Amino acid sequence: MIWLVGNKGMLGSEVSLALQALGVEFIGTDREVDITDAASIRAFADETARASSGTIDWVINCAAYTAVDKAEDDRDACRLINVDGPENLAALAQRMGAGFLHVSTDYVFDGYGTRPYREDDPTNPTGYYGLTKRDGEMAVLAAHPDAYILRTAWLYGKNGNNFVRTMIRLMNERDLVRVVDDQRGNPTWARDLARAIADFVRLAREDRPAPSGRFVPAGRSVPAGRPPAGVYHFAGAGETTWFGFAREIYRLAWARGLVSTDCDVQPCTSAEYPSKVRRPPYSVLDKSKITQALGRPVPEWRESLEGYLDEMRNDAT
Ligand SMILES: NC(=O)c1ccc[n+]([C@@H]2O[C@H](COP(=O)([O-])OP(=O)(O)OC[C@H]3O[C@@H](n4cnc5c(N)ncnc54)[C@H](OP(=O)(O)O)[C@@H]3O)[C@@H](O)[C@H]2O)c1
Repeated sequence: MIWLVGNKGMLGSEVSLALQALGVEFIGTDREVDITDAASIRAFADETARASSGTIDWVINCAAYTAVDKAEDDRDACRLINVDGPENLAALAQRMGAGFLHVSTDYVFDGYGTRPYREDDPTNPTGYYGLTKRDGEMAVLAAHPDAYILRTAWLYGKNGNNFVRTMIRLMNERDLVRVVDDQRGNPTWARDLARAIADFVRLAREDRPAPSGRFVPAGRSVPAGRPPAGVYHFAGAGETTWFGFAREIYRLAWARGLVSTDCDVQPCTSAEYPSKVRRPPYSVLDKSKITQALGRPVPEWRESLEGYLDEMRNDAT
């Protein structure tokens, strides 16, 4: 059985749906099983094993402290949830002989790179959230050397506040919206990442190792096997700035009747939009390793945005 931790969050709720679609047996928890309390998670795993026919053979961790600015003033909580919590889960999974998949972020990089970041590029977080996510990755791999870590970026989904929802609200309220145009990255639909996580765990639970050194041409699908342990990057294909993302949101949301008033979407600089944390100016992730592991390309960010907005329109009618 799979244990999905953080099942009520933006990503976790989508992973829940993806696991249901796969038809695998899983159990989900969120705040009610506090990952910062090692005794609680051990008790939960023991109780689950007693109550159900099978034990937990995989743990997926989508729980995290994700308030990037607030983290600067709330350091103890952020570190407990992003470092101690994943370490507790990874250590428990290792002791149980279970697999472990953890989710991390593009904010482990400083953003001074000039080409998409690869998994083994040096990390250098610029804020406390990124620092704890980086330390969390290290703690997970130390506790469970066969763990998988999926770094992602600029996530939006159905549950929770996110950039797309905020933009649509502002575009309906204001006649001018200014958005930073000096940070480049990869918008990522939580649905796409959730499907990748479900596929990843499905492949990793199989015994067959992946065919090594095999190049996967774009658009082609090859049967993949168990991916090697370690860090992977998953995010929407292509790249843009927050301004470029906002402009597409406006165009596509307008076409679907989700925005119904004229709004001028204008670029601005990060300096004009002061925040507690300096975000990486360039955090585009290289997705070739996960493309190879899954045997299929990652979805293009604009197409995913269309899918998300189609669903939003259908939910509204
Ligand atoms: N959102 C992004 O743009 C983004 C970008 C890159 C990477 N990521 C990574 O993606 C992953 C998923 O992010 P998300 O946006 O889905 O986060 P989210 O919506 O904040 O979900 C996280 C969930 O974990 C729960 N949680 C927090 N502390 C916990 C604890 N001590 N024990 C058990 N559960 C706890 C939260 O509950 P509460 O709501 O009650 O706190 C929430 O339900 C995270 O690892 C994040 O770092 C996110």
